[in-house]
Amino acid sequence: MEHKIEKINREFQEDIRSVETAEDIEAVRVKYLGRKGEIANFTKELPDLPREEKPIAGRALNALKNHIAKTLKEKNKDVHGIHAEKDYLDVTLDAVTKRIGKIHPLTQIAERINDIFVSLGFKIVEGPEIESEYANFEALNIPLEHPSRDAFDTFYLDDKMLLRSHTSTVQIKVMSHEKPPIQAIMPGRVYRPDAVDASHSFMFHQVEGLMVDKAIKFSDLKGILTIFAKQMFGNDVKLRFRPSFFPFTEPSAEVDLSCIICGQKGCSVCSRTGWLEILGAGMVNPKVFKNVGYDPDKYTGFAFGMGVERIAMLKYGINDIRLFFENDVRFLDQF
Ligand code: PHE
Repeated sequence: MEHKIEKINREFQEDIRSVETAEDIEAVRVKYLGRKGEIANFTKELPDLPREEKPIAGRALNALKNHIAKTLKEKNKDVHGIHAEKDYLDVTLDAVTKRIGKIHPLTQIAERINDIFVSLGFKIVEGPEIESEYANFEALNIPLEHPSRDAFDTFYLDDKMLLRSHTSTVQIKVMSHEKPPIQAIMPGRVYRPDAVDASHSFMFHQVEGLMVDKAIKFSDLKGILTIFAKQMFGNDVKLRFRPSFFPFTEPSAEVDLSCIICGQKGCSVCSRTGWLEILGAGMVNPKVFKNVGYDPDKYTGFAFGMGVERIAMLKYGINDIRLFFENDVRFLDQF
């Protein structure tokens, strides 16, 4: 009996000397301490031993079992490094929390813009990103070879089709399909082959606006855009309309917002002018009305187009347009 215990012990010493990995240790543990291991098997034989030997054998077997368990534990530490036992459960660690997604800042701003105009009676219309040269240029009174085409530098797909370079294309779509009165905003992506830098991206978002009816006036445009600016940026902001040129509006204006960064004291964002350009606008050119089959003597209207990135950058004080598209959660998490 004692002989047998010694034999198990010797075998164990040999086995334990050759272990290298955590798996080896586990194999040895199973072999000796497992449900069908050496110790368990021997324990089953105890009842058959002569009466006086039973307690001695029992104690010896227990001692061996403890010895094996202790040795395995030490080996385990060797394999896992000194912290193996402590690392097992660290109650001081932060709980694993689920990361909750957020609406992208550009989408938040686009939705805010939509909401403001919907509250003013505008409906939302979407048009295709792949457009004809006709809708992007000719119908908007930008003839071929006209230098103003350069301002809307374009990705061509073939001779006639292109990625729209502005959402003004959707004005043509809407007016070709519907009769006045029209009061619509047209949000969406636009594309221009610009070199990407802090203020340029080959893809960005615009929201186009169009209102056509009998007797729509420039003052209606001013009123609508002023309400928009106040709702978007706060009641204290002012708008300034600067004469400008767009082939599809006449007269045209570039619209500036009083600088919300410095309150018109002059800062680097507004180049010390106190004003920030936010959109282009004007009265729909009668030539455009003719192109879509509207009678320019009967109808007037205004149109405007703004960049969503630009509005978002001003509203949130973001200085690099690329941040919107890099998908860095440290940036996106802030909105
Ligand atoms: N389409 C013009 C642009 O992309 C903006 C604009 C829209 C100007 C409507 C006037 C009227 O710059």
